Amino acid sequence: MEDKKKLIKDYKKKIQQIKKHNNSYYNKDNPIISDSQYDNLKNEILSLSKKYNFLKDYGDLEQLVGAPVLNKFRKIQHLTPMLSLANVFNKEEMGDFLKKIKNYLNYKGEISLFSEPKIDGISATLIYENKILKKGLSRGDGVTGEDILANLKTIKSIPKKIDFPNVPKLLEIRCEIYIGKKDFEKIKTKFANPRNAAGGSLRQKDPSITSKIPLRYFAYGFGTILPMTFLTQSSFLKKVKDWGFTTNPLSTELIGIDQIEKEHKKIEQLRSSLDYDIDGLVYKVNDLKLQKRLGNTSNSPRWAIAYKFSAEKALTKIKDIVIQVGRTGAITPVAKVDPVTVGGVVVSNATLHNEDEIIRKDIRIDDTIIIQRAGDVIPQVISTDLSKRKKDSKKFIFPKKCLCGAQTVKEISKTTKKEDAVRRCTKGYDCKFIAKEKLKHIVSKEAFNIDGLGKKVVDQLWDLNFMKEPSDIFDLDYDKLKSLEGWGDLSISNLKKAIEKSRSIMLDKFIFSIGIRHIGQENAKIIASFFGSIVEFTKLFNSKEREKILKSLVELDGIGETQSKSINNFFSNDTNINITKRLIRQLDIKKYSIKNINGLFSNKKLMFTGGFQNMSRSEAKAFVEENGGKVLGTISKKLDYLVVGDSKPTKKKIEQAKEFKVEIIWEKGWNKILKS
Ligand code: IVH
Repeated sequence: MEDKKKLIKDYKKKIQQIKKHNNSYYNKDNPIISDSQYDNLKNEILSLSKKYNFLKDYGDLEQLVGAPVLNKFRKIQHLTPMLSLANVFNKEEMGDFLKKIKNYLNYKGEISLFSEPKIDGISATLIYENKILKKGLSRGDGVTGEDILANLKTIKSIPKKIDFPNVPKLLEIRCEIYIGKKDFEKIKTKFANPRNAAGGSLRQKDPSITSKIPLRYFAYGFGTILPMTFLTQSSFLKKVKDWGFTTNPLSTELIGIDQIEKEHKKIEQLRSSLDYDIDGLVYKVNDLKLQKRLGNTSNSPRWAIAYKFSAEKALTKIKDIVIQVGRTGAITPVAKVDPVTVGGVVVSNATLHNEDEIIRKDIRIDDTIIIQRAGDVIPQVISTDLSKRKKDSKKFIFPKKCLCGAQTVKEISKTTKKEDAVRRCTKGYDCKFIAKEKLKHIVSKEAFNIDGLGKKVVDQLWDLNFMKEPSDIFDLDYDKLKSLEGWGDLSISNLKKAIEKSRSIMLDKFIFSIGIRHIGQENAKIIASFFGSIVEFTKLFNSKEREKILKSLVELDGIGETQSKSINNFFSNDTNINITKRLIRQLDIKKYSIKNINGLFSNKKLMFTGGFQNMSRSEAKAFVEENGGKVLGTISKKLDYLVVGDSKPTKKKIEQAKEFKVEIIWEKGWNKILKS
């Protein structure tokens, strides 16, 4: 009897756990355990319910909402990375996007855009070789996808063969897979929303299960095409439609903010009548040559933007205001609210941004508030309803100390001379809250990218003293891990593999990973190309050398006083140096391979002055870097070329260049180089 009770209790606990993980994985898209840990848990439930039939009364796997089987697929590197899109939420931000692309291209007229609904589904890429569908991949992390060809082939409307003349030898079609709203009604009990259903269906190991779920798709773009024959996004979509692909009928070509706004309102009104979920419109520069010139930032193309529909709002009540400490020490107030559904997702936390925001909006505990969830960003508190406030309500006093007990400060901005809105903890790794966040940053996708070390796992391992600083990741005691709930042989072996793999890292990723404030992915690349190797980089540890190095570093275009000061601050702290040294000892840090070593400007240092007729400074800089060169921001003897644009060049720079015997390239010459 006792045993049965215990069995039921343990079983119920496991069911609760798997429900929690399903919710994190399918609804929040933020798994807190690795796939293999999940599999272990699932297998334990399965074998228990098989062995003791009575346990099924307490829930079984098939009944669990959104519990499709998680499976591992073969990983394949994308031919061209699958990036994500930057978002805008209103007319003003959309206008800024238009200005930005025009400035980048130094374009005088209006740029023609192509607008398409942004389908809220799952992205996939289809690769046709000699007209035959050969590969089908999920997005994965954008660089490497999963081989889901068998499942994609179950979608009848995806051509398996393109029976038309003049199809490029290699044709990669990017598309969004979805489930129609009506079809979803039939399988509603199993999944939280159509997007999860499509994702779950695509991840089935058995394609016959996928084929039972009515998946559809829209083709919206391309990856690699050889030979490339298309000139515009609109003609590309027209052609692939002729070849039998499904494209979205609500796409159109337009120009200027007024037409954009009109189109946006029109489609927003249609939104609820469509049989698929859309969450905004994607606006793409129609001319593919201009797209190529605009290129990409680290994560998204410069030539496209997702203009989201108005954010969804909801009314709720603040139960408490707590503070969170970020990896740079920023103290963020978070409102704990009565759970409320906003746009299909249950929200129980909303950000209050910073101290000034709380003061400005006079937000207090117990207030009735409006929260808003826009896209994937953290829900935010918009306003408070003063009429519902009780008389004895008290102003929220923002804590002046960090959770670690240390003092906090608001910095004064060098440029504006104003006090920063964000309060920060004055400690670095010595604040355990910051240290924990730094660890989470280091294992994240953009940094060391360690599969199986999610945020919750880092929290768990930190609390158990298993890892306190980055180098501990590589000294993890796997035997100790074994004794913990949720860790089995398979999940431990997978984690070990992922950690071992991450020991080999490129210099730019390493620099980004150590988490120096103001050094993002782009700056890390500039710095990595300056140092080249980790041996050179470690010269920053020495204060005298550092001073000299930083003087040269600020000469680089993109690195300013703020970055240089921040690097100096980071390495002026002995704890940071020691932690970085211990981490380096664990790693094999690869030299930064400068793009295109045989490029037109390889090993050359250039500087610009004056504006060009046909391109912006940013585009010129990107061109030099793509061709192996470096762009400096200040003039010196080290410079190889000063490139002078016709529009308002600085005379002094030209004189100095002559003095230093630096070769000068005038705009005419520059245009010739571009053409070559
Ligand atoms: S274009 C980033 N067009 O949105 C590369 N994407 O947030 C260009 N999506 O991964 C993407 N409808 O899965 C593009 N008409 C559309 C889209 C679309 C849905 C998805 C796609 C992409 C994600 C980016």
